[in-house]
Amino acid sequence: MFSKIKIADILVDSIPFIQEFRDRVIVIKYGGSAQQNLDLRDKFARDIILLYMLGIKPIIIHGGGPKITQMLQQFNVDNKFIDGVRVTSKEAMKIVEMVLSGYINRELTFFFNYHGVKAIGVSGKDSMLFKAKPKNFELFGYTGEITEVNISILQKLLDDGFVPIIAPIAAGDSIDHPGFNINADSVACEIAKAINAHKVIFLTDIKGVLDANGELISTITPSDAKKYKNDGVITGGMIPKIDACVSCINSGVKKVHIIDGRILHSILLELFTINGIGTQIIPE
Ligand SMILES: Nc1ncnc2c1ncn2[C@@H]1O[C@H](COP(=O)(O)OP(=O)(O)OP(=O)(O)O)[C@@H](O)[C@H]1O
Ligand SMILES: [Mg+2]
Repeated sequence: MFSKIKIADILVDSIPFIQEFRDRVIVIKYGGSAQQNLDLRDKFARDIILLYMLGIKPIIIHGGGPKITQMLQQFNVDNKFIDGVRVTSKEAMKIVEMVLSGYINRELTFFFNYHGVKAIGVSGKDSMLFKAKPKNFELFGYTGEITEVNISILQKLLDDGFVPIIAPIAAGDSIDHPGFNINADSVACEIAKAINAHKVIFLTDIKGVLDANGELISTITPSDAKKYKNDGVITGGMIPKIDACVSCINSGVKKVHIIDGRILHSILLELFTINGIGTQIIPE
């Protein structure tokens, strides 16, 4: 009986959070690093389904770094990064798209539909949801950056009750162009800015942003982030992530979170508890 009352208590305690988030758009970046096994991926989907049932409007953008790396190695294609951003040759681009759009996006979309929630898997190539240009073709090849987001399509999907699940791929400007591979952190950020999201949450494979001693930093402002980058504390894949967080904050998103997607129900812990988990990025 005691434990049943506890469950009821927990539900009642979540009322203020539900009041805050209901009808709001929350953009969730599901990092490739946090997609470690089938059970974790399915539980992630079910947490988002709960948010959806509570009247929150989630938009999912997924990465796929480890799976892409594995496939590139399998096909003997170069796997190179500069400051945490992937360099994408024409050959690599085909594999990147197969993994992101053909495999990860399909599986995640299926989980939602399997559990009875309408989800639609798309990339920037679908109805030109977003457009891109090369980041720096000499250096990064077909790695792109977003130039424009087609908000009316996204809004239509949300209004019709779909959960959009977005692969970070955009079309090129000719029929023989393989398309652009875009870092999913920056796609999440550009979509959040364009749709005026209430919150952006990045799920990754680490507790949050760590300092030089490996301790979790619970709150960061844009100027702190700049310092940690200059001091070499933030490196690799955390560079595009923190850049995306800062860009969101500078464009008016109130709070951005980096949390550990390996922890079960991490997204619910972040949204429905007072202190949350991980690192929050807030204005100065
Ligand atoms: N100061 C730091 N604090 C925390 N992580 C850091 C830091 N500096 C570098 N990192 C690295 O950043 C990684 C997270 O970025 P990564 O790009 O690997 O994951 P992701 O973005 O979640 O996945 P994907 O790129 O596949 O979507 C961590 O696993 C860690 O190795
Ligand atoms: Mg990354």
